[in-house]
Amino acid sequence: MSEGGPIPVHRRTIALVGLMGVGKSTVGRRLARRLGLPFADGDIEIEAAAAMTVTDIFAELGESEFRAGEARVMKRLLEGPRMVLATGGGAILNPDTRALLKDRAVTVWMRADLETVAQRVQRRDTRPLLRGRDALTALKAMADVRYPVYATADLTVDVTGGAHAQAVEAIVEALEGHFAVQAPEVRT
Ligand code: S3P
Repeated sequence: MSEGGPIPVHRRTIALVGLMGVGKSTVGRRLARRLGLPFADGDIEIEAAAAMTVTDIFAELGESEFRAGEARVMKRLLEGPRMVLATGGGAILNPDTRALLKDRAVTVWMRADLETVAQRVQRRDTRPLLRGRDALTALKAMADVRYPVYATADLTVDVTGGAHAQAVEAIVEALEGHFAVQAPEVRT
């Protein structure tokens, strides 16, 4: 359990988790607008805190420093006001972050088939973990390790195919179901 313990579901941040390239940032921004909540992108917050790009942090300080910074930023954001939060693909692997997400967020695993994700990530070269590697092979290896962790999210929404707007609506629908089911407990 994180410090302070669980908070009621209707006050929780909505945290998008899942592999790089599934659209967490773009969909998250639109979802926030749709729900009238503030939005934060974990990677952008890390870059602001370090005054360096994610690529440079990996190259100059190494992945472990990046992960330490990521955990600090996640803690700050998850202990702050309710928002829609796009987490970096590896953030939920940290046990402290995972505990905070469990107590303070509704987690939504945005899941898409790996071929679709591989096509998307190939459009940009901003992901250090994919540098010089075949995207599909690297994503498959990541999925083997991460899917069991992503699967612990409160909700899973398939976002394969379809436009971002459709993903937003699918997430809103899943959240409505979740909040409805949780409502009696919330009112106590
Ligand atoms: C990472 C995902 C990236 C970024 C970093 C590491 C990962 O974020 O945090 O490159 O370990 O999956 P996105 O998921 O937003 O691309």
